[in-house]
Parts: sequence; C-alpha cells; structure tokens
Amino acid sequence: MSEVVIVGLGYVGLSAAVGFASLGHKVVGIDIDENRILDLIDGEVSFFEPELQALLTKESEAGSIQFSRSYDVLSKIHNPIVFICTPTPEASNGRQDLSYIRSAIESVIQHSQNLGVLVIKSTVSVGTTAQLESDYKQLGLSLVSNPEFLSEGTAMHDFLNPSRIVVGSTDQNASKLVLELYSGIDAPKVLCGLESAETIKYASNSMLAVKLSFVNEIASLCESTGANASDVFFGMSLDSRIGERFLNPGPGWGGSCFPKDTRELANTARQLGIQMPTLEGAIESNSRRSEQVTSRIQSLLGGNLFGKTIAILGLAFKANTSDLRDSPAMKVADALLAKGAVVRAYDPVASLPDHSKIQWAQSALEACDGAEALLVMTEWEEFADLSPTELSRVMLDDSVVYDTRGVLRAREWETVFHRFLSVGKK
Ligand code: UGA
Repeated sequence: MSEVVIVGLGYVGLSAAVGFASLGHKVVGIDIDENRILDLIDGEVSFFEPELQALLTKESEAGSIQFSRSYDVLSKIHNPIVFICTPTPEASNGRQDLSYIRSAIESVIQHSQNLGVLVIKSTVSVGTTAQLESDYKQLGLSLVSNPEFLSEGTAMHDFLNPSRIVVGSTDQNASKLVLELYSGIDAPKVLCGLESAETIKYASNSMLAVKLSFVNEIASLCESTGANASDVFFGMSLDSRIGERFLNPGPGWGGSCFPKDTRELANTARQLGIQMPTLEGAIESNSRRSEQVTSRIQSLLGGNLFGKTIAILGLAFKANTSDLRDSPAMKVADALLAKGAVVRAYDPVASLPDHSKIQWAQSALEACDGAEALLVMTEWEEFADLSPTELSRVMLDDSVVYDTRGVLRAREWETVFHRFLSVGKK
C-alpha cells in the first residue's frame, strides 16, 4: 500500500483520489478551494458525477481518504506519490496557463520532507513535463507523466476500467512506483518517454474530435440527400476498423477537454512549423456546428426569432454531467437570445450560470409551455420517454421540434408534430 497525494480535486483529481482509495491505497486530497474541501470533509461531491458520491462515502467511512486545504499535511507523509491534477486553462494569449501547476509543485516541494514521486496527471502540452523537470532540476526530481483518459459521466468506471495506463518518464524506478499503484487493474500498460505520454493524450482526444467533426459533416450531408444517418453510421460501424463508438452526430463537440486540447495541439504544431490541416479543419468544422443549429431553427420559424419562445431540453455539454463548459446548448441558447428569442430551458442536473437570460424550467413540460419550437440539445435518457402528445398540447399550433441528438423516438414524434426534424435526417 502506497501513500498517494492528489493535488487539485476537480473531475480528474477527485475521481483519481477516490479511485486510488478503492484500489486499496491511503489517499490525501489537497485543494486550495476552501468550500470544495469543506464539502468533501462533509462527504459531499460538489458536482454531478454518477457513482462518485457513493464511492467517496464508502472510502471516507473506511478511513482510506482524507482531505485538506493546507499543504502542511505533506510533512507527515513519508515518501508520498504526489499527483498534480490542477487545471490547465487557456491563457489570454491562447496558450496553456501553467501557473496552477507551477504553484502546486512549488507548494508540494516546500512542504514535503521526503517526496517520493511527482506525477503530472493534468493535461499539459507536449514538452511541458520535461521543461518542469528541468526547471526544478536542483531538487533532483524526476517527473512522471500519467495522463488520464476518463470521461465525465463515466469517470469512476473509466478510472477503474481504463482502456490503457500510460506512464511516461526517464526514471524507471519512478515509473515502476506509479505503475504499482494500478496493479489492481487489468489494462494494457504503455511505458514511454515524457513527450510520448503527453502526445498520446492530445492525439487521442484530437483523433476523437476529428472523427466527430466528420460524423457531423456526414450527418449534414444525409439531411440534404435523404440518406438516414442512423442507417449510415450503423453500416459504417460494422467495419471494425471504424468501430461503433463516437459515431453519434450532434450539435458539435464541447466540454472541458476536446475544444481546449485540439486548440492546444494545433498551437503546438503551428509553433513548430508543422501543418495539421486535418485537425485545423475539424476545429473549424465544429465551430460552425452550433450556428447551423441556430440558422436551421431560425429558417423554420420564418426567419425572425424576435419574441418567439424556444424550449431547450438539455444544457450540459453531454448527458450524465452537470458541466456547461463549452456546451453547444449554451452557444445555441445565447445565439437565439441575441436574435431576440425567449429561451426557456430544462436540464435534469445542470443549473443556469448566474445572470443568465435563459428562463429556467423545472420540467420538459414547463419548458415547452407556449413554445413555438423545441430543441433537444443533450442526449439525456429521460428525454427518450417524453410524450409528444403531452408536449404538443402545451406548445403553440404548428410548432417545430428539432432533435439535434437523435434521442427522441422519431416515428412517434413525426405522427404528432408535422414539423419534426432529427439530426442526420431530411
Ligand atoms: C474526453 C475524452 O473522451 C476522454 O477520454 C478524456 O479523458 C477527456 O476528454 C479528458 O481529456 O479529460 P469528455 O470531455 O468527458 O471526455 O467527453 P466525451 O464523452 O469524450 O464527449 C466529448 C464531446 O463529444 C461531447 O460534446 C459529446 O456530446 C460529443 N460526442 C461524443 C458526440 O457528439 N457524439 C459521440 O458519439 C460522442
């Protein structure tokens, strides 16, 4: 059993903290956000993530996980393996802001008597870990890069059942210690250099984003040709080289990772004078996606949205999360508001940001009351069970339904709404 310290308790850090505790390690989580730590000490997760709350409660009761706002706890831990999981937001110059990572590393160094291994789990651009290692060279520290591949909404499942564990380092002993932490997990292990580990992370997210941009373009093509996108993607998915996952067209990819990571990889390439037109094209294609949704609804409503009420179902960037970061639903809502529409939204778990002009509804039925159009923006399972008959009774006559995720049962909806559109269908 090793002592693990996790610095930064967002999605990645908290899932890793709880995951390592459930793998049998003693874990201490540190975060400078006092409210977050107070919530965690009370056993509460401050964001929606299925399974995380139950596992946190279990591990807290078993005494295998503790939380602290202060780095002082480090002085009492012998040879901890410290994971840096702090955010890497985009700075105003468009590049990665490493200040949270640097400040976390400096605090760790200052408070540790005998640091075991320092691991970077935050997503950092290629070359960063080697640069950090060189910046703190006088301490004789070898850093390890151990990128995380979990997705929001399935974070605990993904942490405990990863597709692979990637450990990059120049120090074999440090790699071995990190790998041993995962010995309870049966997954392929990739041991490589720092730059390779960092690149695996960016290239994986970027490849998925490229795939989705292409999927969305094919869906648009189907909308014009009369091909049915569901049949097309099913037919494609039977080729195991293409695979069946990440073939669902939607209103564009969003969230805290794909947009930021694709831009960062493109920036890195540009700085090195390497051309990546495929990646640049995927970013560009995605940036048009929410505009396409907005203009489609605008033209269906006769070109003028002023004073028209539009119901939006789902604000989160995808189902099973409350996260609104880079959410296509928020982009579309803002664009509709800017054109003078009244936007009323419902989401099963997300809540509106302060000062939002979007009206909040407690249910799908309330969101649709008096609406002229209904937009489904997030693929929450509960939306599949909505009754078109019930919603049509509260909506205006001849209203429009546009399912940007293909989650509604099209056959039922088409019989009730004469103007029903689903992504990838004419
Ligand atoms: C993504 C990666 O999938 C994880 O492997 C990675 O660890 C994580 O980023 C990260 O870097 O931390 P996440 O952002 O949680 O995970 O969400 P995804 O499930 O990948 O979805 C990203 C976007 O693609 C969402 O907007 C989603 O709606 C969209 N998407 C996904 C589709 O439109 N269609 C699909 O078939 C799949």
